[in-house]
Amino acid sequence: MKRRHLFITFEGVEKSGKSTHIKNVEKFLLQRNLKVKSFREPGSTKIGEKIRRLLLTPENDMHPFTEFLLYAAARAQFVKEVLSKALKTYDVVLSDRFYDSTLVYQGYALGLGLKEIKPIVEFLSFYIKPDLTFILDSRPEETLAGARKKDRIERRSLEFHRRVRKGYLLLAKMEPERIKIVRRRSKEEVEKEIISYIERLI
Ligand code: TMP
Repeated sequence: MKRRHLFITFEGVEKSGKSTHIKNVEKFLLQRNLKVKSFREPGSTKIGEKIRRLLLTPENDMHPFTEFLLYAAARAQFVKEVLSKALKTYDVVLSDRFYDSTLVYQGYALGLGLKEIKPIVEFLSFYIKPDLTFILDSRPEETLAGARKKDRIERRSLEFHRRVRKGYLLLAKMEPERIKIVRRRSKEEVEKEIISYIERLI
């Protein structure tokens, strides 16, 4: 390992294939005899999973600020209860979403203001920053088209999901060293690209 305790996050629009690729990365790292732990956000703690249900249940109408603060609350719990410790224990920690999701979904697409919420988001993540972030980039009209049983966020307009995609591309421009855009292609090609970035760090 070139760097100890890597923290890698996976981001993207709905149904962009994050969980499939996380499983694949996990397998690759285990084959290299590295200690790996995966999490998902919001969630990964008892209270975090409850907050996730609150956030994603379609009937739970809420103000954008309530939504923002609930995501931030779940993250604060996640960092304090599990992530901080995991970053000391495991060689590589993977997370299905982290604070970039809040910047993009609530800050940019929902309109609370990316610049405005950034300091709060960083404060409530206790200034923990991923070493590497993958944005699995796909067009929401393709990924959401066949989706059934949509949750509260997935049900939002195509326009909203297009803004999410735009927000991610904007973030990647702001931090090209950390954030890598991986364009939608065959599963094998995407896997290869992700692994090649990770290999540079391990
Ligand atoms: P998932 O379906 O990828 O697990 O993510 C849950 C949903 O929550 C997804 O629609 C993205 C959304 N989300 C936010 O809006 N803000 C956040 O900070 C996070 C972590 C997720």
